[in-house]
Amino acid sequence: MLSQRPPMGWNSWNTFGEDINEQTVRAAADAIVEKGLKDAGYEYVVIDDCWSLPERGKDGRIVPNPEKFPSGMKALADYIHSKGLKFGMYSDVGTRTCARFPGSFDHEFIDAETFAEWGVDFLKYDYGYKPKLANGKSLYNRMSMALKATGREILFSACNWGCDESEKWMRSVGAHMYRSTGDIYDCFTSFKDIAMSQVEKLAYSGPGCFNDMDMLICGMRDKGNVARGGCTDTEYRTHFALWCFFQVPLMIGCDLTAVDEGTLALLKNKELIAIDQDPEGRPPIMVTDGEKPVFFKHLANGEYAVAFFNFTDEQSFQELECFDVGLTEASGYGFEFYDVFTGESKGVRADYFTALVPAHDCRIYRGKLVKR
Ligand code: GLA
Repeated sequence: MLSQRPPMGWNSWNTFGEDINEQTVRAAADAIVEKGLKDAGYEYVVIDDCWSLPERGKDGRIVPNPEKFPSGMKALADYIHSKGLKFGMYSDVGTRTCARFPGSFDHEFIDAETFAEWGVDFLKYDYGYKPKLANGKSLYNRMSMALKATGREILFSACNWGCDESEKWMRSVGAHMYRSTGDIYDCFTSFKDIAMSQVEKLAYSGPGCFNDMDMLICGMRDKGNVARGGCTDTEYRTHFALWCFFQVPLMIGCDLTAVDEGTLALLKNKELIAIDQDPEGRPPIMVTDGEKPVFFKHLANGEYAVAFFNFTDEQSFQELECFDVGLTEASGYGFEFYDVFTGESKGVRADYFTALVPAHDCRIYRGKLVKR
């Protein structure tokens, strides 16, 4: 079964936009293996918009742009598969994609067949140029059936930006993940606003169909297609921690051929990825709201995690009162937590946990409930 954990991979859009070709995609696949990202769990290599010719061929099929992909998509899929990775592509419910290339409207079954013949394992399905009188739910349902009809296992990654209350029906139409937000840009306010817009909607996210908060901007450093000023290392870490704590897909967006060591270490952070990939897939509880939110989360095997985020421009002293999540001293139990970034033990406590959190930073503790 697909999407039992949030899917992980790389997507071309954030860095390359329309400037994609087979070398770029092969190089990304090479880097995923050589830089240890495959071992960390990243598996899908996804080509976003702008891969085809502007018009369909005479046979009604979408045609890959031969200048960008001279060896063809089947050869690219074979290459990606030879690395032990999976191959993703992109289309759109509408008559055109967002960048005005052919969309799959009224061609769902033939496009799904074409993707399956090429060896596609993942389809991102966008929402541009949807006819106003057409129903989005029906169009996603149709492509979902078309993919299944091919007999090939293809992860269906819907992308309607959270419009039309899609959280209420994306799981029903067979999507394995769905963009529940607008597009991300490489700056602090973009990822912060995206994350906070999801707090209520995470109730809909879980094994089988995860909310998708868009591709990661970690390490982009204001270069590429979604540049908006860039982020500091602290901010990229907070961004990655939010995506992991909210258990959403981790699709890398930076140029992996030029990624710096710090970003690589962040993208491979075992503790954060373990939270993202926790098998229970439960959304966090927001204990404190506002610009200094505190979240509490149930993990598998009786474990818990707490996250302190500081979105303000000042250092902040943050606190989780144990009674706020239902644990009193009278219970005889306490949380035995450690800091996931430093490994430092926080002791066994039934009163409160504190964290001194620098501006735009976060602290995450994890552990279990033990007898005191
Ligand atoms: C939309 C999507 C983006 C990207 C572009 C491509 O904006 O939300 O993720 O796929 O289209 O044109």
